[in-house]
Amino acid sequence: MKTLVTGGAGFIGGNYVLTMVPRYPDEEYVVLDALTYAGNLETLKDIMDAPNFRFVKGNICDRAFVDQLFAEGHFDYVINFAAETHVDRSVEDPGVFLTTNILGVQTLMDACRKHGVKRYHQVSTDEVYGDLPLDRPDLLFREDTPLHTSSPYSASKAGADLLVLAYHRTYGMDVTISRCSNNYGPYHFPEKLIPLMISRALADESLPVYGNGANVRDWLYVTDHCNAIDMIVRRGRSGEVYNIGGHNEKSNLEVVRTILKALGKPESLIHFVKDRPGHDLRYAMDPAKIEAELGWKPEYTFETGIRKTIDWYLNNREWWEHIIMGEYQNYYAEMYRERN
Ligand code: NAD
Ligand code: DAU
Repeated sequence: MKTLVTGGAGFIGGNYVLTMVPRYPDEEYVVLDALTYAGNLETLKDIMDAPNFRFVKGNICDRAFVDQLFAEGHFDYVINFAAETHVDRSVEDPGVFLTTNILGVQTLMDACRKHGVKRYHQVSTDEVYGDLPLDRPDLLFREDTPLHTSSPYSASKAGADLLVLAYHRTYGMDVTISRCSNNYGPYHFPEKLIPLMISRALADESLPVYGNGANVRDWLYVTDHCNAIDMIVRRGRSGEVYNIGGHNEKSNLEVVRTILKALGKPESLIHFVKDRPGHDLRYAMDPAKIEAELGWKPEYTFETGIRKTIDWYLNNREWWEHIIMGEYQNYYAEMYRERN
């Protein structure tokens, strides 16, 4: 079996191949990644020379390139993690979000149809459902909750989801979609809340909390997300959407305080800053469908997952310090100088 993993040099796609390449030594994995600012080959160094792994640099929007890759690749499965993912960047510059997150998906699905790929899996997000009020803890997102987006990022992800379902209905394509809550764990780019706060707290820098810090996110340790995707790709029903989440709702202030306490740093580092425009109040997933149909259960609670994550950032300073210093962007040239 051969799987194309797009966006596999990013946070979740990287954790996905780092988990699956050694788990399934008889299966082949190819990562296609454009290495945008968010892609980092240093993440993949442990599997780069594995016999069942190959890295290809390229853009999912490049139709001719994608077609050629599929013609030669004979992929059974395509799992699309590639996307522009940072909400704040989408507020500043929506264009690339629409191009990559919608047109890139169309390009991949057209190639899947043309080259007879068995299943296309779209990695989507809880943000397509919009947000929930803070004072109604009984409300959760279900797969039939209407799409109702707030940011250019979430609108682009919702657009992609609709397109994927349209290809299923119109062309009979075998597709699945997963919508997961906020992930955290190793190799998370330090522009996102948890790694940003860990790296800044370690440097005794101020921690910018948007608004009053009361916004709630539903946190899932990244390998629990990867295991859920693996189950959906192998055993999920075609044309279905699966919500993924572990019932770990925390306010941003709770998350930041947990990090400060674990690092032995003072709460005086917290600095309340101007809120994000359109800031979603609360996300909370109902994962009942994937639990009942596929038997998925998360391995980590927030408490065990955040401890493991903080330890990883303490023990792997080089990985994130290279990002902060910009050095990771030279890695491709260095790594591939002798391969080209
Ligand atoms: P990320 O930003 O860390 O990584 C994205 C990867 O995609 C990078 O390696 C980047 O180089 C690559 N990429 C971007 N544009 C590309 C293009 N045009 N062609 C090829 N590669 C391209 O993102 P992430 O946090 O790992 O998210 C992965 C997926 O999971 C995204 O689709 C995102 O919407 C979804 N998701 C993320 C979360 C989360 O909490 N991070 C939660 C739910 C869903
Ligand atoms: O819910 C899934 C989504 O989670 C994914 O689809 C997105 O790709 C991913 O980026 C993430 O989106 P969020 O906007 O929830 O994540 P972020 O880490 O940017 O912010 C988490 C919360 O923390 C949010 O309420 C905004 C707040 N925040 C964020 C940053 C970067 C701050 O208060 N200060 C900050 O500096």
